[in-house]
Amino acid sequence: MRHLFVFLTLITIQFLSALVSANTASANKGFYLDPNAKFHPVFANHGMVVSQEKIASKVGAAILAAGGNAVDAAVATGFALAVTLPRAGNIGGGGFMLVYLADKKKTLAIDYREMAPAAAYKNMFLTVDGEVDSNKARYSVHSAGVPGTVAGLIYAQQKYGRLTLAETIKPAINLARHGFEVSPDLSDSLRSRYDRLRKQPSTKKYFYKADGGFYMPGDRFYQSDLGATLARIGAYGVDGFYKGTTAGLIVNQMQSTGGLITLEDLASYRVVEREPVCGKYRSISLCAMPPPSSGGVHLLQMLNMLENWELSKFPHNSAAHLHLMIEVMRQAYADRSLYLGDPDFVPVPTIELISKQYASKLSAIIDSQNARSSAAILPSLHILDANLPVESSETTHFSVWDSEGNIVSNTYTLNLSYGSGIAVEGAGFLLNNEMDDFASKPGVPNAYGLIGGAANAIEGFKRPLSSMTPTIVFDSEGMPILATGSPGGSTIITIVLQMIINMVDYKMGVAEATAAPRIHHQWLPDRLFYETGISSDSLKLLESMGHNLQDKPRVLGATQSISWDGGRLQGASDPRRHGGAAAAY
Ligand code: DON
Repeated sequence: MRHLFVFLTLITIQFLSALVSANTASANKGFYLDPNAKFHPVFANHGMVVSQEKIASKVGAAILAAGGNAVDAAVATGFALAVTLPRAGNIGGGGFMLVYLADKKKTLAIDYREMAPAAAYKNMFLTVDGEVDSNKARYSVHSAGVPGTVAGLIYAQQKYGRLTLAETIKPAINLARHGFEVSPDLSDSLRSRYDRLRKQPSTKKYFYKADGGFYMPGDRFYQSDLGATLARIGAYGVDGFYKGTTAGLIVNQMQSTGGLITLEDLASYRVVEREPVCGKYRSISLCAMPPPSSGGVHLLQMLNMLENWELSKFPHNSAAHLHLMIEVMRQAYADRSLYLGDPDFVPVPTIELISKQYASKLSAIIDSQNARSSAAILPSLHILDANLPVESSETTHFSVWDSEGNIVSNTYTLNLSYGSGIAVEGAGFLLNNEMDDFASKPGVPNAYGLIGGAANAIEGFKRPLSSMTPTIVFDSEGMPILATGSPGGSTIITIVLQMIINMVDYKMGVAEATAAPRIHHQWLPDRLFYETGISSDSLKLLESMGHNLQDKPRVLGATQSISWDGGRLQGASDPRRHGGAAAAY
């Protein structure tokens, strides 16, 4: 029997605060850690799971210890998060899984993004006056796409796992049926969303006490209907969700409120295994999610542009460093608005967007001293000489690494916190509101302020464009050195970018790179988002260069990462949000 050491590190937001104050004092001298903050990575010799919720991390580590590989552990973690982190963990949403197979030295991308129901149409979220009805797009039964999570996790498990589906889903069934202790994070999060969630009788029944009271930390939380749904999935596989009782309950929910998802839509849901987008940046290479996520394409595009400067000669998070980061972000998000969409419906010029030639042309027009106005930046592939085939906030990430070197980097979501807020009566799970990730009307921003056009217009069976960016990074010899990803809607891509820049250009360890204060720019709105820890000196200089600063700092993302330092795995669960944990064995 293998000796099991499961140990957990809970990293709280207080650590970040301590770190941030230390950092503010360091104005432009680069990043350093406050030794009193006790912020440290978790080490492992065998395998590791890092996720936003400690029980789910432990479930994954126990699967590794029981002989499962990284995919088995990821599937078990994914199902467990659907029980213990209901705001983002899910079976009613969708996502993307990047898998690295050590024996084949191969990375593959599993797309289990939601699909629009067959009856969805371009103007479905417009009022008679032609305005976008954002309430309908975000919080109505129409906001839900056909869920992909169950099909995606089962696809991964059956094709690349080693255990059985029954073994990997069992911990989640037990957690739902036998309950678990409510954490301060779950209690706070449900309380803060009460006004929205209580409006749906099924959601109110599942997530609040019978007398309407709140679950408090330490209470036990049971989800028997969810347990029964998970048990049907365990027994019948995809048919336990997309057909039979569960499918019937989803369709009942739709019919009682005029929703579009039908039994045929559910039965036609398909997982797509895609080639990841991969590229080189300085001495490293990386693979990330291809369309219908915009993450991998724009991550590579921004890295390619940044390669044209020796970033490390600027102090970390100094105005000079941040200015270049902002200008490459500005261009990438302009391109995103025009060129990106579901590749099964529109031609996405991935090769051009991630070409070094395009990046060097774009870098050449960046002014190192002055901010450009976003109004003057346009999607710019036309500057390439080639013929182009161009027409036309709650998610969760987890990373898993096993003792053989197999890796999973997975981001999945209901879209906004608790998705549409609509729980399927009798089935115990929440439906996503991913339809808002489509461009409801050209030029009108979605919940993340992102705009888009024809490439991301609504159509039956189409997948809405995403920003989720599960990523795996390799050293110069092709050995994996990092698995990372984050929630944060539109900010996900720039967060992953900063993780890579911090580790590659500024030689930070994974925990230090995670804690370092972040910025974000997305072309429109023409605003710089920044965290508290960015020094006021840097911010003043950026303003004097012409950058428009957001009034107040905001927290950006929650990465869950594992790195390999040549001898050990190091896990870092982002201190920005409560409840995350690295579980190692
Ligand atoms: O796919 C996307 O890009 C969004 N639905 C992700 C949403 C998200 O990250 C919310 N998290 N804070």
